[in-house]
Amino acid sequence: MLYRGLSILSITSLLTIYLIFLREESPGASLLSYPFSSRTRPTPVDILSTLSITPPGHQQYAWTEGDGSTSEFLTLGTPAHFIPFDDNQIIDVVTGQKLQGPTDGSTFNLGVLKLPRGSKWGFVGVARGPGRKRDLVMVNGYPSKEQVLIAFGLNITSEGKLHIVTPAQTIDIPMGPKQGCVPTKQFVGTYGAEDPRLFWTDAGTPGLVMARYTDALDTCRSLGFIPDLRDKFAPLADALAVGEGVVDYNAIPKVPGASNNLELIRLQGQANVEKNWVGFYPGAFADGVSLHPHVQYSFAPSLTLAPVDINARRILYNDIVPSPDLDTSECVSNAHFSWEKRKIHQASPLYRLTLCDRGPNCIAGVENTVLFGMAHTQKAPRHYGKFIATFNVSAPHNVISVGPRFQMTGLNDDQVNYVLTMAPIQESDLDPMVEPKQLLQPHLPSHFFLDDKMLITLGHEDKKMVNVMTTVREALGRQKICQRPIIDASLTSEFEAALGHQ
Ligand SMILES: *[C@@H]1O[C@H](CO)[C@@H](O)[C@H](O)[C@H]1NC(C)=O
Ligand SMILES: *[C@@H]1O[C@H](CO)[C@@H](O)[C@H](O)[C@H]1NC(C)=O
Repeated sequence: MLYRGLSILSITSLLTIYLIFLREESPGASLLSYPFSSRTRPTPVDILSTLSITPPGHQQYAWTEGDGSTSEFLTLGTPAHFIPFDDNQIIDVVTGQKLQGPTDGSTFNLGVLKLPRGSKWGFVGVARGPGRKRDLVMVNGYPSKEQVLIAFGLNITSEGKLHIVTPAQTIDIPMGPKQGCVPTKQFVGTYGAEDPRLFWTDAGTPGLVMARYTDALDTCRSLGFIPDLRDKFAPLADALAVGEGVVDYNAIPKVPGASNNLELIRLQGQANVEKNWVGFYPGAFADGVSLHPHVQYSFAPSLTLAPVDINARRILYNDIVPSPDLDTSECVSNAHFSWEKRKIHQASPLYRLTLCDRGPNCIAGVENTVLFGMAHTQKAPRHYGKFIATFNVSAPHNVISVGPRFQMTGLNDDQVNYVLTMAPIQESDLDPMVEPKQLLQPHLPSHFFLDDKMLITLGHEDKKMVNVMTTVREALGRQKICQRPIIDASLTSEFEAALGHQ
């Protein structure tokens, strides 16, 4: 009996060793490790023709203002869904009580982040809540007002409508009125945070970039970055399932001090009021480590910033200067030529998009993946037009293509419809009976594929939260490919020599 027992044991262990060996050898098994190291070639895709294709029925629509077309811009998506919300139920996280008056306005400008499968909510949302009037504090004769961000969980219905499934609470970001805002006249006493843009960091944390007051005394407004929203919205830590590249709250080393509330600063050229910076991460898929985002600083002319240094309160950024042969920085403004450059600004973060259909036959790589983001064309007092542009996942993140203007069903471009975020949606997100498509690489929940639906969240009239659902193929159609400048090779080597001497 003892002998038989031993031999069964040894057969079992031999089998185990064999299985381990098999696992090591099979490329399928190694693909499951994270961060991903590829032994499989990325799926071949003709990026430029995939971007420039005209989706069925789109040929009749105008492309941009002043292009001579007499037809309208394309209208896309499901009818705008106005998300119900009761402002009276917001919890002030500083006091633990309901947000006390006097307040001003209602909740709008919603940004969302899709959570990994198995989480208690489908999405976490951050929106601009009602401002808090501070009549006790007068600055230069103007009453003071604090702009407030609030956070909550959301689910999506099978028709693609978002609804809030948790109590809402404020995000505590301490600030006050300051000297640097004196030039802004009636806004001198307005402080706080606005315009939340949520995204997954490559380190796998829920990151938030927002417009905020600056810590510097002599400037007024800048951008803030919260590397892990769980620091500021505790219920998210419990709701979040790890997986898909998203990590546990304790997995990220915490830097003691104020580093869960950072300010983004351009080393050269920071203005008194900075707005609309949007975050992104280089490469075709998450590297599993990068916490601090790159920034798309402007679409027209296109300019990207890279983080170069960090201290307790700030991430410091340098401009990424494209080499002359990749300098397509005028492409967006040339395509939408009727708009002054400063009236075109970015709306959503830049997301990775792999240009094949989600599934085991689509392997992402720099050859088939682009970054894309939505931009606004802005005209006072209420117009926010929309288009999409794509950027290179590799530095210098040059513009690859620019898309046509479009409108969204049920929303008028002259009604202040302000886009904050987008999220990829597959059938299994809408129907729990459907299995999610299997991927051979782990991808963050924000990684888009060509056959995904696209959820867009917006603010409406500075009063309401809205979502629209469309598809990647519809929103991405008819892109104009940016012409690469034809450059004399000696200029390029001069440029490289100049960079080397910096
Ligand atoms: C929200 O969706 C999750 C699944 O994503 C589900 O487990 C949960 O019960 C839903 N919550 C509500 C309140 O509908
Ligand atoms: C993307 O960037 C890489 C590296 O700079 C460059 O070799 C490639 O040509 C660029 N692709 C496009 C479409 O511009």
